[in-house]
Amino acid sequence: MITLEEIRGQIARCRQCDLSKARGQTVPGEGASRADVMLVGEAPGFYEDQHGKPFIGPAGQFLDDLLALAELSRKEVFITNVVKCRPPGNRDPEPDELAACDGYLRAQIAAIQPKVIVTLGRFSLAKFIPNTRSMREVHGRALPVEGMVVCAMYHPAAALHQGSLRRVIEDDFRTLPMIIAQAQSRPPILEPVPVVAAPVLAEQIPLFESFA
Ligand code: URA
Repeated sequence: MITLEEIRGQIARCRQCDLSKARGQTVPGEGASRADVMLVGEAPGFYEDQHGKPFIGPAGQFLDDLLALAELSRKEVFITNVVKCRPPGNRDPEPDELAACDGYLRAQIAAIQPKVIVTLGRFSLAKFIPNTRSMREVHGRALPVEGMVVCAMYHPAAALHQGSLRRVIEDDFRTLPMIIAQAQSRPPILEPVPVVAAPVLAEQIPLFESFA
């Protein structure tokens, strides 16, 4: 199986979509190589593009607070995004950009074999749970997907832009220790998980709220 280091190298050389033309650095993700918990955001922003690290801007600082509420540290989880290069002006990723990075996310999941995937925002959620109509309906819920538990969360940036969501996302992160403990107590999956990343893109989910 391809290693995280090899995936990192492939991402660094990737020219599969136009985001590669304007990027500063690729942002493959970082953290523990056999993390039980993987957090998947949307795409790098300005600071991430400069430093090649995920979630180091304002949303990342809030994510650190949220991880603390969940009794987790960056070192013990793996943090990545569905798209590994910054979309210009932090716009939403385009379908071809999401498709270009799809294999990298699948490979990372296969290498890490997390028990819990925390999706941050609608683009990440759509990878794992297609046709979700509303983030309001699913946030904080743990759903079984391909032998893993996928926990849908609002994007931290959404809470920074919309103050009323702050409490909601904080409460959702507080439930994570219990969800993780339950997932950890299940028998290990012996075969590598064939992740079926959903072909359905966020754009095809008309009722989806724009919180990413
Ligand atoms: N927002 C994301 O979705 N990912 C990052 O890495 C930073 C901000």
